[in-house]
Amino acid sequence: MAKKQRQSNSFLLHLAFFLCASSSFSVSSRTLPLLHSFEKPIFRSNFHTIYDTSKYGVFQLSNGLAQTPQMGWNSWNFFACKINETVIKETADALVSTGLADLGYVYVNIDDCWSKATRDSKGQLVPDPKTFPSGIKALADYIHGKGLKIGIYSDAGAFTCQVRPGSLFHEDDDADLFASWGIDYLKYDNCYNLGIPPKKRYPPMRDALNATGRTIFYSLCEWGVDDPALWAGKVGNSWRTTEDINDSWASMTTIADLNDKWAAYAGPGGWNDPDMLEVGNGGMTYEEYRAHFSIWALMKAPLLIGCDIRNITAETLEIVSNKEIIAINQDPLGVQGRKVYATGKDGCAEVWAGPLSGHRLVVAFWNRCSKVATITASWTAIGLESGIQVSIRDLWQHKVVAADAVSSFSAQVNAHDCQLYIFTPSTIYYSVV
Ligand SMILES: *[C@@H]1O[C@H](CO)[C@@H](O)[C@H](O)[C@H]1NC(C)=O
Ligand SMILES: *[C@@H]1O[C@H](CO)[C@@H](O)[C@H](O)[C@H]1NC(C)=O
Ligand SMILES: *[C@@H]1O[C@H](CO)[C@@H](O)[C@H](O)[C@H]1NC(C)=O
Ligand SMILES: *[C@@H]1O[C@H](CO)[C@@H](O)[C@H](O)[C@H]1NC(C)=O
Repeated sequence: MAKKQRQSNSFLLHLAFFLCASSSFSVSSRTLPLLHSFEKPIFRSNFHTIYDTSKYGVFQLSNGLAQTPQMGWNSWNFFACKINETVIKETADALVSTGLADLGYVYVNIDDCWSKATRDSKGQLVPDPKTFPSGIKALADYIHGKGLKIGIYSDAGAFTCQVRPGSLFHEDDDADLFASWGIDYLKYDNCYNLGIPPKKRYPPMRDALNATGRTIFYSLCEWGVDDPALWAGKVGNSWRTTEDINDSWASMTTIADLNDKWAAYAGPGGWNDPDMLEVGNGGMTYEEYRAHFSIWALMKAPLLIGCDIRNITAETLEIVSNKEIIAINQDPLGVQGRKVYATGKDGCAEVWAGPLSGHRLVVAFWNRCSKVATITASWTAIGLESGIQVSIRDLWQHKVVAADAVSSFSAQVNAHDCQLYIFTPSTIYYSVV
């Protein structure tokens, strides 16, 4: 009895330390190994293998941005080249009136096609006078006046993908121009790149942006061709890991898997970018869009809405406004969740998970099978000791679905749907000793 008593005392001490460590967590106290406090008696030793963070924050572009993944809107997925200053302004208005801006969607990003086909006589880029007659500076002022930020687009090549002038060898001039307009974000594409490797073409724009003295988010878009996760952390605040997304289940699932490979490299300052959201564009079902949004949030992907916000449906707004899921994406721990295991025919019943601040886990049950499936998370497979009690909150139903689950948790998931949970391990009950 006495022995047992001593054991539980030391256990409580351990626990006190553990809770302390959890509440004092902050960006500045982040050290490697990052997940050192995710330890016994709650977490299994396989935890650190499942959620490898060995490359987290090894490189950082220290411009102070991207402490959490960027959120906002981009014109490409819905409008492609059919943009003009009216659409951009109305979108800014809609971000505010729908409440999306208050939820964190603050970047209003103009993609390709904003500039004239040629530079002016002084070699400067010029906004297309037909579609942006008031110029980009006036648009930036309008957007800033709403408390939002403005993004623009260029290309690390001779031309943009839509054959407007590119910024390769014009980095300093173009960065100065962007800064003079009040630009806050640059998406930098990869067309007409003259066969020069990305590692040579992307750093000059980083340096040019830095030299302007204006803090500008630098979003690399080299389509994952040169494995940017391995080097781009020193160059940009996010880097595309794949080709362009399109508004289909096939594209979205393929891209999710490709992006998953680089999970260990994401972290505050630099994020893997599996491309912008297609939610609301009509090519997928409600369940598929829910899955898209859930997995992008869990993967710490940029949340850049790609539909026409001026005409957003209640259903789409419900998906992208889910505060609990946005909080997963913006969690200060900043560890990318990943596919942990798959069961069923061709492994189509998937469990994705990741660590969150406060010693919690985000867990997704993603049914990529063509029929309804029962998906199970066993504690040992997601890195928890099996005797630990876990409280489980469903982030789509917005309620606790199990207060004290032990050992495993199962749920039925419709075809192509995804259920997203927060698992909070209990610190009160332990079956050990
Ligand atoms: C601006 O673009 C939108 C969307 O493509 C279009 O509906 C509208 O007619 C355009 N307005 C002008 C003035 O060109
Ligand atoms: C420029 O780079 C330096 C060194 O990384 C950094 O401290 C500074 O904040 C950067 N400035 C801007 C405007 O990005
Ligand atoms: C969309 O992406 C999928 C998967 O990569 C591809 O098979 C399909 O051809 C693409 N569709 C279009 C219209 O580009
Ligand atoms: C608004 O969206 C609906 C479908 O949700 C579509 O039928 C309609 O044409 C859209 N209106 C505009 C102005 O784009």
